[in-house]
Amino acid sequence: MINKDFHPLVAAPIWREQKMYYANSGESAWNYVPFLYTSNKFMANWVADMIFNLSRLHPGQKIQVIELGSGHGMFGYFLYQRLKSLQVDFVLTISDFIVSNLDYLKSLPQWQGLDVNWLPLDDVNELKNAYEFDGVNFVIANYFFDSLPNDGFEFVDGQWQRAYLATDKKKNKVDGFVDIKLSFESRPCDLTDQELAMLKPYEGVTDHVLVPLAVKQLLAQFYQSNQASYFFVNDKGFVEKNKINYADDYAYRCDGAMATMVNFDMIKRWVTSDMNGFFVVNENDHDDSHFVVFGINTEHNQQKQMVEMALSGPSWNMVFKLFMVYENQPEMSFEDACFYVQCSEYDEAMMSRISGFFMNQIKLHGELIHELRPILLRVIETFYWHPARLMYFYAVLDLLVLCGELETSKDLIEKYRHLVPSQYDVLIREGVILYKQRAPVQAKEVFEKALKINPKCTESKKYLELI
Ligand SMILES: C[S@@+](CC[C@H](N)C(=O)[O-])C[C@H]1O[C@@H](n2cnc3c(N)ncnc32)[C@H](O)[C@@H]1O
Repeated sequence: MINKDFHPLVAAPIWREQKMYYANSGESAWNYVPFLYTSNKFMANWVADMIFNLSRLHPGQKIQVIELGSGHGMFGYFLYQRLKSLQVDFVLTISDFIVSNLDYLKSLPQWQGLDVNWLPLDDVNELKNAYEFDGVNFVIANYFFDSLPNDGFEFVDGQWQRAYLATDKKKNKVDGFVDIKLSFESRPCDLTDQELAMLKPYEGVTDHVLVPLAVKQLLAQFYQSNQASYFFVNDKGFVEKNKINYADDYAYRCDGAMATMVNFDMIKRWVTSDMNGFFVVNENDHDDSHFVVFGINTEHNQQKQMVEMALSGPSWNMVFKLFMVYENQPEMSFEDACFYVQCSEYDEAMMSRISGFFMNQIKLHGELIHELRPILLRVIETFYWHPARLMYFYAVLDLLVLCGELETSKDLIEKYRHLVPSQYDVLIREGVILYKQRAPVQAKEVFEKALKINPKCTESKKYLELI
């Protein structure tokens, strides 16, 4: 990503080069790129319910659901499950620009047998050539707009100048990653009347303006299709025009991939003034994150009201806080812990976070197994496996074993063992399950295999002695 020459921001090599981060990191990309905010069942169910309600305003029309920049695919998967359970007749398209990532996802066990279009999309401008605009569209874009190219302008002595970008290597002190230092420069330029009109509202309000040009090109394709299209967008950015800004090390961050702040204010103007749409926003006080729902070719108030109503209930913001709150909670009752898992819609990430607590409680009060077991089985119903969530796999597995759900834990192992990087960790658990199922010969075989991988394994030695 190093290019010490200044390039016009919108055409800077960094936009194509950031693709290399995802292309080179493969399925481990999400070890560093955060995803918890949106890739949980609460969010997916919430959006699915909105899709269900909004789709009823379009009777007889095909329901097209498309996720852009799907990454690890968790959101799309949970959404699929919920829409199916609501008996919505929909077509799901999962899209990303890394073909190998899509290939990896579609080979995962949990996606087998699901009816999904996997759409590689190298350039958002090409969507119209690759996607059927033949129904009402529901578009999911989680942390996607912030990856798309922006143009940038600075107001200097009463004139707008265009932003240029240069990049340099920088050592990230916190994590030891090689990060990218970004430098901006503004140069005089000629602007079209359309560009001047677009920047007019920002004159005297803010001197640096990011223009989400690729987002505009994307939205234009939905507008031109004349189909009603709803967008569910999660991203960091600003909804007020006086806050929009960019500068060195401010609006652009690199945590492996690159992220910019999204100019939602400008998107709102386009959608509501030029594209017969509505725009509703749900702010979060963490990290300038926003959940935004907007429509294109949907000028009726009914849609807007429906979305506003959905957003006025328990929001993702509140649930995210719940995800975090247990960390600050010195004491938690068993009921509290069950409540957290339930209000996260039985999310395995939540279950995993609280798993240590459940383990201790069950060891102290064995009878609690009866309460925990049905909750665990609900977690398993829509369990999503991905290497970035490997610890959830083990946490859920350990709880299942503790609750005596031995067949379910064996199924879980069988389904995913070929994908798990450490066979040793799987063998240990398999051995315990077999031992508990009173299958000593098989258990012995499995512990011996584990010992071959790790001759110091005290757990295997302990069980072998017992056998
Ligand atoms: C920050 S990740 C977000 C992943 C996921 N949606 C989430 O919420 O965690 C951005 C995703 O968008 C994809 N992406 C980035 N730029 C893209 C582009 N120009 N066209 C298509 N996909 C892109 C990346 O491959 C990556 O999967």
